[in-house]
Amino acid sequence: MRIRRYAPQDLEQMLQLLYDTVHNINIKDYSPEQVDVWAPKEPEVEKWSGFFENNICYVAEIDDKIVGFGDLTEKGYLNTLYTHKDFQRKGIGSALLKAFESEARNLGVSEITTEASITARPFFEKHDFVCVKKQNKEYKGMVFINFLMKKSLR
Ligand SMILES: CC(C)(COP(=O)(O)OP(=O)(O)OC[C@H]1O[C@@H](n2cnc3c(N)ncnc32)[C@H](O)[C@@H]1OP(=O)(O)O)[C@@H](O)C(=O)NCCC(=O)NCCS
Repeated sequence: MRIRRYAPQDLEQMLQLLYDTVHNINIKDYSPEQVDVWAPKEPEVEKWSGFFENNICYVAEIDDKIVGFGDLTEKGYLNTLYTHKDFQRKGIGSALLKAFESEARNLGVSEITTEASITARPFFEKHDFVCVKKQNKEYKGMVFINFLMKKSLR
């Protein structure tokens, strides 16, 4: 597996990965209506490319296939972290997170925060994130439970 920086030509594969992961993995914890709002068939391409271009964005690749990605703001907020539905529990999320932690340390950021899905919470706990609070986040008229979590880098 190789971790590298995002390039604009990755976007299409990443949005397909996001759709497939949300509809096959997050569906265990969220309703069909919620996953349709989270990852609609027609993605908001401009919104996502804006995140990936403006934030620090890495993709994980195996044999030129994108198997995971994430993006981190310069303030240490982990905005996304997704592993391909067929590559879950193989260490890809951990490898990406390690790259982001090292990037955050280099930026002098003292903690990483994220808003973890119900699905991702055990992953972040395993990596020493603590839950700050449970949230009912409203997005496009639907309420999503997630968890504000943080990890000190000191
Ligand atoms: C969260 C996510 C990115 C983790 O990626 P991953 O590549 O599967 O994670 P790893 O293989 O590195 O997992 C490392 C460890 O975290 C823990 N972990 C990961 N997923 C877990 C789960 N569903 N339940 C319990 N523990 C879990 C385990 O200890 C795991 O080690 P193990 O497999 O040896 O037991 C992935 O599950 C995902 O894509 N989830 C759906 C999208 C999502 O909700 N993203 C975050 C919110 S935006």
